Amino acid sequence: MSYNLLKGKRGLIFGALDENSIAWKTAERAHEEGATFVLTNAPVALRMGTIKTLAEKTNSEVIPADATNVEDLQDLIEKSQEILGGKLDFVLHSIGMSINVRKGKHYTDQNYNWTQKGLDVSALSFHKLMQTLYKKDAMNEWGSIVALTYMAAQRVFPDYNDMADNKAYLESVARSFGYFFGKDKKVRVNTISQSPTPTSAGQGVKGFTGFMNYAEKMSPLGNATALECADYTLTLFSDFTKKVTLQNLYHDGGFSNMGVSQEIVEAMED
Ligand SMILES: NC(=O)c1ccc[n+]([C@@H]2O[C@H](COP(=O)([O-])OP(=O)(O)OC[C@H]3O[C@@H](n4cnc5c(N)ncnc54)[C@H](O)[C@@H]3O)[C@@H](O)[C@H]2O)c1
Repeated sequence: MSYNLLKGKRGLIFGALDENSIAWKTAERAHEEGATFVLTNAPVALRMGTIKTLAEKTNSEVIPADATNVEDLQDLIEKSQEILGGKLDFVLHSIGMSINVRKGKHYTDQNYNWTQKGLDVSALSFHKLMQTLYKKDAMNEWGSIVALTYMAAQRVFPDYNDMADNKAYLESVARSFGYFFGKDKKVRVNTISQSPTPTSAGQGVKGFTGFMNYAEKMSPLGNATALECADYTLTLFSDFTKKVTLQNLYHDGGFSNMGVSQEIVEAMED
């Protein structure tokens, strides 16, 4: 069903790797809601993934960019405005990667080169992206910038490893840069803290299935899916949320405010 929520809006979407990606679902839904946008991902991901299918389906162009490389970002933002015919109304940062997680390196035994690389990709890239948008004055007034995060930024999830620290940094950057974007450009900046979701990045976390099932049993509404996350993201790109900014918004079926649920109590009783 379409509400034409984003009719006439132009955007830039990072992070669609395959059809499970949150960014993929967001692109599909944004297209249905009348937006035009450019898709981007790291060159290596473009080779591995299936983004062409998405580009065809949504009538959009794909521009490769490594989100840790400021020159790539400058080029991407210039080209996107040319292609779309004006400044941007929305930007989605849907990027995360930890080499320590991927290689099974424990939090108490970090390879710091990998830690730094993961921080750059998952968190600093958001600052680099916003600084480039800001300097190029590439956002329209009342535009909206969203990044995806996870509750391990606030609470301990041991297997989330150094991604927990990356997400804490990411959420802080959203507030700090969001202040200047709000004051100077009337642009809002928020993070969405999403339920565990079976995507390529999500499934890389050790014990992911147990993690997901636990969250499902703890949440009164159950886990939020990637498609539901896409829909929530669109509301933040729409004109109905103009004064929502500097927020970390939980999209998790209620998990973040739970202590314990009946199902968990029953599972623990012997
Ligand atoms: N899946 C979950 O359980 C979950 C939960 C909460 C938040 N998130 C967050 O959602 C976001 C999207 O992840 P996803 O679950 O859709 O997984 P995904 O693996 O589909 O997406 C991650 C994307 O990051 C991209 N990326 C990695 N390095 C990059 C670089 N240098 N430059 C540009 N792009 C790069 C990948 O190519 C990929 O498209 C991430 O920020 C993730 O941390 C995921």
